[in-house]
Amino acid sequence: MTLNRKSTRPLMLVTVLMILAAMAVLVVSCRNNAGGPSTNAPTAGTTEDINAIAAARGLTPQDLVNAAKTYTPSGKHDEYYLFASGGQSGQMYAIGLPSMRIIKQLAVFTPEPWQGFGYGELGTLRILREGGLGADGKPLTWADTHHPALSETNGEYDGQFLFINDKANARVAVIDLRDFETKQIVNNPITLSDHGGTFATPNTEWIIEGGQYAMPLGFKYSSIENYESDYRGMITFWHFNREAGRIVPEESFAIELPPYWQDLCDSGKLVSDGWVFCNSINTEMATGGVELGNPPFESGASQNDMDFLHVINLKKAAEVYAAGNYDDVNGFPVISLDTAIAEGLLHFVPEPKSPHGSDVTPDGEFIVVAGKLDPHVTVFSFQKIMAAIEKGASDFDPFGVPILDFDDVMEAQVELGLGPLHTQFDNKGYAYTSLFLESAVARWSLGGSFDKLNEDPPWTLVTKTPVHYNIGHLVAAEGDTVSPDGTWLVAMNKWAVDRFMPVGPLLPQNFQLLDISQPGTNMPLVYDMPLPDGEPHYAQIIKADKVKPWDVYPEVGWDSSTMSVWEGAPKQGEERVERDGNNVTVYMTAIRSHFTPERVEIRKGDHVTWHITNIERALDATHGFALPDYNIHVSIEPGKVVSFEFDAVQDGVFSYYCTEFCSALHLEMMGYMLVEPSDSASAAD
Ligand code: CUA
Repeated sequence: MTLNRKSTRPLMLVTVLMILAAMAVLVVSCRNNAGGPSTNAPTAGTTEDINAIAAARGLTPQDLVNAAKTYTPSGKHDEYYLFASGGQSGQMYAIGLPSMRIIKQLAVFTPEPWQGFGYGELGTLRILREGGLGADGKPLTWADTHHPALSETNGEYDGQFLFINDKANARVAVIDLRDFETKQIVNNPITLSDHGGTFATPNTEWIIEGGQYAMPLGFKYSSIENYESDYRGMITFWHFNREAGRIVPEESFAIELPPYWQDLCDSGKLVSDGWVFCNSINTEMATGGVELGNPPFESGASQNDMDFLHVINLKKAAEVYAAGNYDDVNGFPVISLDTAIAEGLLHFVPEPKSPHGSDVTPDGEFIVVAGKLDPHVTVFSFQKIMAAIEKGASDFDPFGVPILDFDDVMEAQVELGLGPLHTQFDNKGYAYTSLFLESAVARWSLGGSFDKLNEDPPWTLVTKTPVHYNIGHLVAAEGDTVSPDGTWLVAMNKWAVDRFMPVGPLLPQNFQLLDISQPGTNMPLVYDMPLPDGEPHYAQIIKADKVKPWDVYPEVGWDSSTMSVWEGAPKQGEERVERDGNNVTVYMTAIRSHFTPERVEIRKGDHVTWHITNIERALDATHGFALPDYNIHVSIEPGKVVSFEFDAVQDGVFSYYCTEFCSALHLEMMGYMLVEPSDSASAAD
């Protein structure tokens, strides 16, 4: 096991900035001692004197240090991308670290007009349509995004793809980091909700989607009185084809699990590669009904002292699936619970009640579980789990799943504080756990192969930093890979309360940046960032130089849905409007500062298919295309071809225009779509 101490340069830079800031602090204190408080201090905007500005704005010396650590001058780029879930918005965010500037919103599950995502059939609305229809037969237009996962090669982020789940509708999306566009949404065919995803295996062969609320698999009805017999949990393994950049549903499968509520999972790595570890809650199998006098779910699902960590042999499960040893549920292969038990695919480990996070250490040797109703984190040894499986279990759950003995597999328990949830890692042999009830980040030392990486005794709490407030997930730089960076950590807080200026009763989320580069007890909070969107849950932080997005699309006529040139894309000089009966096809190009053609004359009742190629090659020379009243908006980045279609149901004159301020003559970049009434005399030709 090796922990790469990846880049020392950012640390050196931070150190230099800290020295500079400390010198400024000395100057402040010297001046204050010499002159006392000034009665006519300049305001911050009227001086270039750093000390006067600090005095005018009420900044402490520590504030100046923090500002120096995070301030990123114009034109300078950040060291890291943070890819955050956008929660109930169904979207994602790309955020620069350490500046904490939002660089881009990524449209994933929800129509997004700036990017033209989900507007007009043929185009990106197809992705939403293929990604699942709601009960009304229409594409789902929101999601509850939870856990993003970056693609990995040998357990390291490779910067190629990003995955995220939709807890509400059990869906998984694939984003290509060459253009930051969502390419695919797959809809789980056997169940409705997921939570334990997405997680990538160390070489991204599988994208893990763990379930959440148990229900009859395959969308059948069964009375909740039949909960134990008919309701089930699941875990789904989506096979990812890296060359195609797509999940292959035909090569994916699920495993039926008992009707416990499977929660977060993590993929094994290095020694534990090929295994998956998922928490569960409600092993009590509470079925609610507080209105009938039953205990509410919150207490009914919290009665047992122990729930079950699900230890799943993915490598062997893939063999069982390949051998055809599965059932068909709604056309999807599902390894039955009986088969999973018979084949030794599933073992349980008792874990302290109502756990949340399940996180594998960088060496793959330990699984850290945090029980939110227990002040400890519990650390399980993978080697001990393997030995216990070898020895065989003497206890079984009501469904016959073997339960390993807690004392046989537990390596350590570390008391951290109230409400521990999730854990991430660094390059100094420390783990970091969010404390929800205590509103703090705990740093604690790992044992085993990490023992010599810091001065602190193994398996002990080292320090805590308060955060604001009620932290859920936390994310460290490359903190769930085989070689975490140990530079920055972001606390993803559920409540902002008083941190930002008031904006009415609905408050933004609060991301707080912690500097974790120094060992020991120094773990300062350096920046607060409001995220003006849904509850962000989880994120991934990747070194910026690993992500290599395109500046412009590689060739003119690029179809971003296939990531290849489309031969049919409109070309300069070949723009036209073709008619075949009532079907009209528009072949249009866009370049500063005109669309060609500038007149599109059709008739009411026509079915219109419209293609536009942006033939620009200049960086950032994006055009937008708006077709008012028809609810069409698309973004056409340099080289891209976009397509949409609609029925010309409304006659009249429609001015289409470019929505990106692309040049001084941007206002003139427009045209007229003339829709002749179908009953007019000239309509018959
Ligand atoms: Cu093109 Cu404005």
